[in-house]
Amino acid sequence: MSDISTRWYRPGTIPITELSELATMFAEVADDFVPPLTSRAGTTQSELREQSPGTPVSDRYLKEMLRQDLFMTWHKGRLAGFLSFRTDHHDSRYADLCPCLYVSTIAIRRRHRRHGIARSLYRELFDLPAHLPPWVVLRTWSTNHSHLELLRHLGFDGILRLQDDRAPGVDTVYLAAKRSASANPLPR
Ligand SMILES: CC(C)(COP(=O)(O)OP(=O)(O)OC[C@H]1O[C@@H](n2cnc3c(N)ncnc32)[C@H](O)[C@@H]1OP(=O)(O)O)[C@@H](O)C(=O)NCCC(=O)NCCS
Repeated sequence: MSDISTRWYRPGTIPITELSELATMFAEVADDFVPPLTSRAGTTQSELREQSPGTPVSDRYLKEMLRQDLFMTWHKGRLAGFLSFRTDHHDSRYADLCPCLYVSTIAIRRRHRRHGIARSLYRELFDLPAHLPPWVVLRTWSTNHSHLELLRHLGFDGILRLQDDRAPGVDTVYLAAKRSASANPLPR
């Protein structure tokens, strides 16, 4: 697709006009996540079961995302997609991969899906400067086939699975890939 460009924003540096576009897109895609982003207390929340209907909409997730690094992909002045990430993430469950880059959120606007934007956002992440951590870790839900298919193509491997974590039959899966070393297998 032409007229597409991606910019990297360090935490807290998004200009106000671009911030409002991000908030608009965030509201548009929030319900595409399980559970919806607007029902979460933050980007690494451990309790992920679906909330009951009527749970108040929250902007806590968006606020926390703004304290992280962010790639935003623009198309003709409108936001087409974004990827938020932490550059110094630690988790004792996969301590041998830490500190790691942790992708907290990736979303593409519906009309821009299947044009390779998510794939190119992950490429940007893999191409970050070498002094940043080598491992990229993220989590998604087990029925998110489009995302899992993309991650498989990018060389991600499963490292942890939390059964029925989001709902009966909907697990949380953690995956990892090493930047610039797709030939290097995960440490066992
Ligand atoms: C998952 C998501 C980020 C993919 O974004 P995208 O820009 O459409 O993905 P890409 O165009 O880069 O797709 C790359 C590859 O991923 C796979 N893929 C993407 N969407 C797919 C779908 N709906 N069905 C099957 N495979 C899919 C394909 O292999 C695709 O390659 P191809 O188009 O050459 O066949 C997007 O669908 C989205 O925003 N979903 C809602 C939010 C979400 O689920 N985020 C992740 C939560 S952890």
